[in-house]
Amino acid sequence: MIEQPFITTLRLLLRPFVLTDAPGVQTLAGDKSIASTTLNIPHPYENSVAEKWIASQAKNFAAGSSVTFAVSHRNDNMLMGAISLEISRKHRHAEMGYWIGKPYWNQGYCTESAMALLQYGFDILDLQRIFAHHLTRNPASGRVMQKIGMVHEGCLRKHVLKWNVFEDLEVYGLLQGEWKSLPDIIENMWYE
Ligand SMILES: CC(C)(COP(=O)(O)OP(=O)(O)OC[C@H]1O[C@@H](n2cnc3c(N)ncnc32)[C@H](O)[C@@H]1OP(=O)(O)O)[C@@H](O)C(=O)NCCC(=O)NCCS
Repeated sequence: MIEQPFITTLRLLLRPFVLTDAPGVQTLAGDKSIASTTLNIPHPYENSVAEKWIASQAKNFAAGSSVTFAVSHRNDNMLMGAISLEISRKHRHAEMGYWIGKPYWNQGYCTESAMALLQYGFDILDLQRIFAHHLTRNPASGRVMQKIGMVHEGCLRKHVLKWNVFEDLEVYGLLQGEWKSLPDIIENMWYE
């Protein structure tokens, strides 16, 4: 069986979650500002939700249906967030999703993680397309998608019902060929 890899970038270690991360996940993902702009994170974040989520990840990785990495600082392994790919082997595409704990926002950590995940998805998983979406009212996430070279593909109007409000969703995507032709300077920013 293939083991989920560890990925090292300039500042980060992307690694599989372990059960001892659960309290950290509950604290960081439990902040309302994380639930507010994501579609699958509950609020309040009850006890045992993090444990169940972490426990599901190895099974999903083994099945090839998703891969989830803990975003941690490579110097001290401190947990800062999560990033994942939901994979369709049939279509060789995947949807990227991520959150970074509020104390760590706007330091480039999500962008650095997402660049690494693009490389993993295209080079290791041999995906044809990686896409992502964000609520229109969440421009920070859109900025991450732009910074990693994704192309804005459109707006799905009133596509999701979030906390009783129908909201617009912006869709971004990147093809393997486009990834390979991104300037080296972008890729090299995130690796040793
Ligand atoms: C979206 C999120 C993951 C970004 O994480 P991050 O580590 O802060 O991202 P980065 O630092 O790599 O990049 C953030 C960019 O957004 C910009 N930004 C922040 N707030 C912004 C705003 N209100 N409007 C426009 N741009 C904004 C930052 O300036 C930065 O861009 P820059 O480098 O060009 O200056 C984080 O805010 C988060 O976890 N939010 C809650 C969960 C969520 O929304 N997840 C995504 C669901 S689609």
